[in-house]
Amino acid sequence: MLKQDSLKHLAIIMDGNGRWASQRNHRRLFGHVKGAKTAQSIIFKCLDLKIPYLSLFTLSTENTLRPESEIRDLTHLFEKIIFKHTKQFIEKDIQLHILGDISIFPSKLQTDLKAIQKKTKSNKGLNLIVALNYGGRQEIVNGAKKLVQKIQSGDLKINELTESQFGELLSSSQFPTPDLIIRTGGNLRLSNFYLWSSAYSEFYFTETLWPDFDEKCLDLALQKYSVTERKFGVL
Ligand code: IPE
Ligand code: MG
Repeated sequence: MLKQDSLKHLAIIMDGNGRWASQRNHRRLFGHVKGAKTAQSIIFKCLDLKIPYLSLFTLSTENTLRPESEIRDLTHLFEKIIFKHTKQFIEKDIQLHILGDISIFPSKLQTDLKAIQKKTKSNKGLNLIVALNYGGRQEIVNGAKKLVQKIQSGDLKINELTESQFGELLSSSQFPTPDLIIRTGGNLRLSNFYLWSSAYSEFYFTETLWPDFDEKCLDLALQKYSVTERKFGVL
């Protein structure tokens, strides 16, 4: 039995869909479709494991600069996923949170994303945070804008600002900070994911491409996390 009580928030940088597809001489979309299936099985595994928060880095602010055809393919895929899984999320007690600026998407997708969040709002089994057009720097800049407003309106004095007060201005502050960040696909970087809240996260990197990341791969990462002593800089 894994010691996972301390794991409240697992975050995953799902990388490698494109390479997985090109290794099979397919278009990138083929990898994204398989990647979405992987995400589905990992979501249900996290629900079984009673991990309260799962974040999936689905599309970064930088990813949106990819060729229009890939963004269009991804947009259609997101629409299909919502259509296919809304009922299941409701039944399985999954609450969906979207993090990031969704105003770049077609209005149908924006409406559907808002609707599924509303429909799953009182679910308690798993908080699933899907980062879509999310960037850590963007989140910090948005927080800074709110801070300036607070100072200008006299709500807050500059010299009294604390880390936790600033942190509360960030959109991800509604969730616990990530305990463990897994990145698939072999690269050792954060790629503008949770820049502020990852200050004391543990990291697990694997060469496995996201479409191949199965429950056994997740078990390995959780096993490694469970034997890591976390001291948060204190002896
Ligand atoms: C991650 O896989 C999925 C998204 C960013 C949408 P990639 O598309 O980055 O796959 P590689 O890195 O090109 O293999
Ligand atoms: Mg990539």
